[in-house]
Amino acid sequence: MHLPAHGANTQHVYEALGMEAPDTVIDFSVNTNPLGTPASVQDCWQDWLPAVYDYPDPHFTELKQQIATKEKVEPASLLPGNGAAELITLIARFLQGKNVLIVQPAFSEYETACRAEDCHISYFQLEAPAFTVDKEALHKKLQAADAVFFCNPNNPTGIAFDQSIMNWLIETCVEVKTLLILDEAFYDFAHPPVTSIQKASNSPYLLVLRSLTKMYHIAGLRLGYLVGEPGLVEQIGKRQSHWALNGIALKAGVACLQEVEHVKDTTNFIANERDRVFRFLQRSDYIHSASGVNFYLLKDPAMASQENLYHFLLEEGLVLRHTYNFPGLEGEWLRAAVKKEAENNQLMEALVKWKREG
Ligand SMILES: Cc1ncc(COP(=O)(O)O)c(C=O)c1O
Repeated sequence: MHLPAHGANTQHVYEALGMEAPDTVIDFSVNTNPLGTPASVQDCWQDWLPAVYDYPDPHFTELKQQIATKEKVEPASLLPGNGAAELITLIARFLQGKNVLIVQPAFSEYETACRAEDCHISYFQLEAPAFTVDKEALHKKLQAADAVFFCNPNNPTGIAFDQSIMNWLIETCVEVKTLLILDEAFYDFAHPPVTSIQKASNSPYLLVLRSLTKMYHIAGLRLGYLVGEPGLVEQIGKRQSHWALNGIALKAGVACLQEVEHVKDTTNFIANERDRVFRFLQRSDYIHSASGVNFYLLKDPAMASQENLYHFLLEEGLVLRHTYNFPGLEGEWLRAAVKKEAENNQLMEALVKWKREG
C-alpha cells in the first residue's frame, strides 16, 4: 500500500501525500452521525465537568443499569468499555494464542489486537461485489477456529445481514464450539436494526459488541459495551484496568442511551440521503455496495484501482477512505460516509466532474 493509513485525520492524509490541503476539506472517511450529538447530551456537558475531580465508579453501576434496562439483560451480562476498541483488546487478551478467524473485509482492530496476543489468524472472505456469505465455505472455516469476528452491519461495506443469516451463524458456532464475537457498532443506523444481544446474554459461544461512538457522535469520549454470558463476561472483565471509563463518559452514556428521538431522526435522515446518493451513483455509472447504514463503498467500474479517483477527490477537498488496508478490497473501492445534504451534493458534483474530466 502506498497511500497513508487513515481514519478521521484529513491533515495527515494531505501531508503524507505531499499535497496542499484546499481551504475547505470535508471528511467523508469518518462515519459518525452527521446530525451530531443529541442536544439533550450537549446541554449537560458543563454540568458534568466536576465529575473529573473524583475517581469514577469502577463498577460502572449506573451505566450498567441503564444498558440493562435498554437491552433487557442482566447487569452481570454487561461489560462497559473505553470504546468498543478497548473491549476488542480485552477479548483478544482472553483469546491469547488461540485460532482466530476474521470474516473480511472488516474493522482492522480485530486483527491488530489478536496479533498482539499471538493469536493464529485466518480469514474468511466475503466476495465482492455482493459481499454475501457462502455458508458452506464458512462452516468449514469455523470448524478450525476457536473464535470468529463478524461485523454486522459490516464495516466497510455497510451491508446489514438479516436475522436469518445471523441465526444461522450463531447456531453454527454453537455446533462447532467456536466463540462468535459479533460487532454491532453500527446496528442502530440500520432499519430495521438486527441484533443478537438477547441471545448473547446466556450463550457461552456468543459475545455482542456495541459502540456509542457512532450514533451519538462521541468518538473522543470512548464508550462501548459488551454483552455475553455472565461467566464469560467476568473472565474478559478481569483483564480491564480499574477506572477504565472516565466520569464524564459514565454520565454521558446514561444520557445517550435514553435518547430515542435522535436515533429515529438519524435513521430516517440517513435512509433518505443514502437513497438519494445511490440513485445518483446508479444513473452516473458508479457501483456501490448495498449498504443499509451511514457509509458505503463506491467505485468507478472503468478502473480496477480507485487511486486516481481518490487523488482527484482529495484535490476537490473531499477525503474518502481508501481500501488498500482492508484485506479483500485492495484499493478496488472507496468508502464514503453519508453526510449532510450539502456535503453529499458536493461529493456528487465532484463525481460528475470526474466522469467529465478524470
Ligand atoms: C466496526 C467497528 N467496531 C468497533 C469500532 C470501535 O469503536 P469505538 O469508537 O467504540 O472504540 C469501530 C470504529 O471505527 C468500528 O468501525
